[in-house]
Amino acid sequence: MTLDEKLGQMTQICFSNITLDGTKTLDLNADLFREAILSHKVGSFLSGTGPKDKWVNFITEVQRIAIEESRLGIPLLIGIDHVHGANYVDEGTIFPHNLTLSCSFDTSVIRQGAEVVAKETAPLGLSWNFAPVLDVGKNPYWPRLYETFGEDPLVCGTLGSAFVDAYQNANTEPFGLAACAKHFIGYSDPKSGWDRTPAEIPDQILYEQFLPSFEMALKAGVKTVMVNSGEVNGEPVHGSKFYIDEILRQRMGFDGVILTDIKDISKMVDMHSAYGNYKDAVLASINAGIDMAMTCNHYDFAGVIKELIEEGRLSEARIDESVKRILQLKKDLNLFEHAYPAGTQSDQIGHETHYEIAKRSAAESIVLLKNDGILPLKKDQKVFLAGFAAHSRKMMNGPWTLEWLGAEEDRHRKDVPSLYEAFCQQLGMSNVTLGALPFNFNRQAIKDIEKSDVVVLTIGEEPYSEFKGNIGDLSLDAAQTEMIKQVQEMGKPLVLLLVAGRPRIIKPFMEQTGAVLFCGYPGHGGPEAITEILAGTANPSGKLSFTYPANVGYFSPYYHKYSEYHHSSSKPFVPQFEFGAGQGYSPFEYTDLQVSDTLIQDLDQVIHCAVNVKNLGSMDGKETVLWFIRDEIGTITRPVKQLKHFEKQMRVFLEDT
Ligand code: BGC
Repeated sequence: MTLDEKLGQMTQICFSNITLDGTKTLDLNADLFREAILSHKVGSFLSGTGPKDKWVNFITEVQRIAIEESRLGIPLLIGIDHVHGANYVDEGTIFPHNLTLSCSFDTSVIRQGAEVVAKETAPLGLSWNFAPVLDVGKNPYWPRLYETFGEDPLVCGTLGSAFVDAYQNANTEPFGLAACAKHFIGYSDPKSGWDRTPAEIPDQILYEQFLPSFEMALKAGVKTVMVNSGEVNGEPVHGSKFYIDEILRQRMGFDGVILTDIKDISKMVDMHSAYGNYKDAVLASINAGIDMAMTCNHYDFAGVIKELIEEGRLSEARIDESVKRILQLKKDLNLFEHAYPAGTQSDQIGHETHYEIAKRSAAESIVLLKNDGILPLKKDQKVFLAGFAAHSRKMMNGPWTLEWLGAEEDRHRKDVPSLYEAFCQQLGMSNVTLGALPFNFNRQAIKDIEKSDVVVLTIGEEPYSEFKGNIGDLSLDAAQTEMIKQVQEMGKPLVLLLVAGRPRIIKPFMEQTGAVLFCGYPGHGGPEAITEILAGTANPSGKLSFTYPANVGYFSPYYHKYSEYHHSSSKPFVPQFEFGAGQGYSPFEYTDLQVSDTLIQDLDQVIHCAVNVKNLGSMDGKETVLWFIRDEIGTITRPVKQLKHFEKQMRVFLEDT
């Protein structure tokens, strides 16, 4: 290979750069594309959105040109953010975002979902998925919280590695698939809470809380890793030999492909001011261990590397290491044999069985946080339904659905019901009244509420992504606050459905609210799953994978919770809902706790534990048992408790344990 050909393999360009209108909508500008392939020898592309047939034609054509017209005929490696389903394919199945999914505490939910995503992604010729997010979601202000598996490192690692294993090993023959553990490392806890602002993470916390999920994904065989766009302890991670080479490559032993995040080498010049020019920034990132640059919209990466080699500042041998890894990945993914999409196999995209799996995922994940007895609804109760997500698929599907911020309403699949439609189907049309959107407390609304037995309000926030979701306050907005107050003044039993990417403060309304459910962005299956839970045909079994704060200004993951010592002189910190909170319609009784020892004295010691869990209710239900440990004395203070094991089990009615 010539040096140019090698450097092209290390460059990843956005498809929007080679389409007719400069957007992601898959209309190829063949001249621009040929320039990318033949002049710049680009080996990888990302992003796009459209119907499956358009995807098939588009990928077939770009692979054909790459294979037939370039000198070496190396197939392209094509990446996509299918982060909650085949979310960039019009017909694709949309799953809940990870934060919701993690409340299932169930690896089988994650595995089933990952297999569906694999089956709806691979036949299109998309072999690289930039998922899962393995950042630990410690900060509710961080606008990507909903992309994480919550605040606990063990949950993030267990569910994240289940995704990696199920996704990469799904039966998608002859197509191979690569997952991507992102964003290494320390992305999710910026000090300000805002996206891509500086994080300060002491080594102790880095090792204990941030590395485990990545370590577990590496163990599960994840093929690629994407780097954190932000800076940690003053060091932009993209240029950090410490984080990338020393920790990820050497200590953790990762030998797969390391990819930058979008345009992030340039950001080390423009945003972090860590380097005076692009060439120095590229040198730092190559020395740190980057294999491929997601430059997205320019080809300068190869040019400056050539200069660096000519100037003797970089060796071609270093470039060869990265190119080998990239070509090995293409080989492992079977791209040299099967680069073209499989038109017929794409029939399974959006298959009805996949909808059922998405629905199950939502049903297992939605968390019933409060219930004063108004749920399940009684037969033929009259329901008034309102709020921003009441009749909107866009709001239920959330961000990263067909578009980065979520596509406009009419692009979402209409063969899956909105919440209002699901209510009508299950509760009977004559029992459901839909409020105006936006909500208007006019005479009609008052009349409708008066004649209803229960009011159900969807509250939360409209889809947002990355920095677009930066906020200064976790309170609900004024319009929603007003809506809830007006409804509460009428004294009707109230159910709040939280449709949001993070916990928004609901404390002011709690006293007069009968039931609260955290739904997150629950995807295609959300509306039916929510309706079944409200109607009592499904028993909720989700538990919170994060601590739900009560106040705007005080939040803390469960392992930092203040001890009694701190409580004695001041008001105790009480979150709105604890990590692990969540109820069903059946109470569970725990008896016969057995532990082989209560003290772990040395590192190899194994403790066996068992407990009987009995369903005391009249409905089948499931319970997640959370096992915590505590290191009582530590000169570096230890978490007040730490999740060590979790298991979700079907507990059948009555005698079964
Ligand atoms: C995000 C990544 C994503 C990439 C490609 C970036 O803005 O941070 O998570 O994979 O875009 O779409």
